[in-house]
Amino acid sequence: LVLILDFGSQYTHLITRRIRSLSIFSLCLNGTSSLQTITDLNPSVVILSGGPHSVHTPDSPSFPDGFIQWAQSNAVPVLGICYGLQLLVHRLGGEVRVGNTQEYGRMEIHVENQSALFPSAKVGHNQIVWMSHGDEAVTLPSGFNVVARSQQGAVAAIENPSAKFYGLQYHPEVTHTPEGMETLRHFLFDVCGVAAGWKMEDVLEEEIKVINDTVGPEEHVICALSGGVDSTVAATIVHKAIGNRLHCVFVDNGLLRYKERERVMETFEKDLHLPVVCVDAVDQFLTKLKGVTDPEVKRKIIGKEFICIFDAFAQELEKKLGSKPSYLVQGTLYPDVIESCPPPGSGRTHSHTIKSHHNVGGLPKDMKLKLIEPLKLLFKDEVRQLGKIMDVPEGFLKRHPFPGPGLAVRVLGDVTEGNALEILRQVDEIFIQSIKDAGLYDVIWQAFAVFLPIRSVGVQGDQRTHSHVVALRAVTSHDGMTADWYYFEHKFLDDVSRKICNAVRGVNRVVQDITSKPPSTIEWE
Ligand code: XMP
Repeated sequence: LVLILDFGSQYTHLITRRIRSLSIFSLCLNGTSSLQTITDLNPSVVILSGGPHSVHTPDSPSFPDGFIQWAQSNAVPVLGICYGLQLLVHRLGGEVRVGNTQEYGRMEIHVENQSALFPSAKVGHNQIVWMSHGDEAVTLPSGFNVVARSQQGAVAAIENPSAKFYGLQYHPEVTHTPEGMETLRHFLFDVCGVAAGWKMEDVLEEEIKVINDTVGPEEHVICALSGGVDSTVAATIVHKAIGNRLHCVFVDNGLLRYKERERVMETFEKDLHLPVVCVDAVDQFLTKLKGVTDPEVKRKIIGKEFICIFDAFAQELEKKLGSKPSYLVQGTLYPDVIESCPPPGSGRTHSHTIKSHHNVGGLPKDMKLKLIEPLKLLFKDEVRQLGKIMDVPEGFLKRHPFPGPGLAVRVLGDVTEGNALEILRQVDEIFIQSIKDAGLYDVIWQAFAVFLPIRSVGVQGDQRTHSHVVALRAVTSHDGMTADWYYFEHKFLDDVSRKICNAVRGVNRVVQDITSKPPSTIEWE
């Protein structure tokens, strides 16, 4: 295990992912965790992340007392990155000061001395790196050497090989540091002697074992499938472990996309052999949503209805099985469980606000179900890999995210008004199919259509029309937290617009949303 102590850098997750991409298991922990928590994990290497702090700011985060002694007496190599380097220098008795010149962005560093950090061929050479710091190390603790300096003469890399302490002032984990990945690889394999061998096949085997050890032979498990990647992969693993003691429910709330129910159910049944009950709750949802225009009220109503349905599902099962289901499967991912070090004064205790309103409904508190979260140590791309080795169809694994409240947040205003949902389904299908045909589906994070509750005048077949306007939204993003709108070729937009107006009755105008997030959000409601 390579353990990353997080001090609040926006790149901490990236370090974890980069290391995992080398087939080395890596976890990330709040940098101020207790010594016991750190040592219990028995890491073979510890990386101290960057962060937005200065070591001189009161309350700036630091590793616990006794950490250095523990690392030394157990010969555990420690690599400080950016703030991590400064922390190491500061805590070991060196001096860190506000730099003469702050270094942000692309910089050149010069490797001055032979060291374990850079293969010897690199000595005397320059390399491009990504810097982002205001403070700099000016006096190193005893036993440390400067390995590389920036063009401005600031310390860029340090080491104390006999103590196995290393530091990089720049960020090797970002792609803007072209040789960064090679440096990490060399450090972990050649300097620290870490062995590669963490594979998704092992993760799957381990997860199945854990589920079998957890769920008793008579116990039953339920899972709400949304049709998304996470819940599907989570359910598939649990099904592999306990077979038909897993009971899944898929709810058609009338807010799904074109033929979505049929398509998703077919995948569950034919490709994944998952035992899924499909609940037709179209009338139930749409009746409750009738006349509702406030987006937050819509979301609340939908969440509440989901809970009622899950509750009824659990009660039905209890009648059938003679006992209550004991566990609930959730597709929680690693980014949602990592706690990290927020900047002082940010008012946040955890840097990752869990998108609670993004979960499909949640479940009644009095169900008292224990959770099974087989994906909680994995990132999204790893979940996709896991799905792949379990033969979840590729097309399914690559589906764009779809919000729990479905098309209700894409029909602005009253979703039951006229045939808004039907129009939206058709427009969305044409748009998505065109994106797929143009080979763009995988480069776009999310694309969809939005139904606007206004009409505009048009002329179709020599006749005046007074019909609906639809907006097309396509964004690129890494995690949905920020996003940029996607630049389509004019020809593509022209074709899509024509297809929509020709094929969908009731639409005479198509517009494109050209706003990033922020200031907009991805969904319109
Ligand atoms: P926003 O609109 O907040 O969306 O920029 C960011 C990402 O989250 C999705 N989203 C949701 N997903 N339930 C979900 O499961 C929700 O209530 C919800 N709201 C937004 C959205 O589609 C985008 O991918």
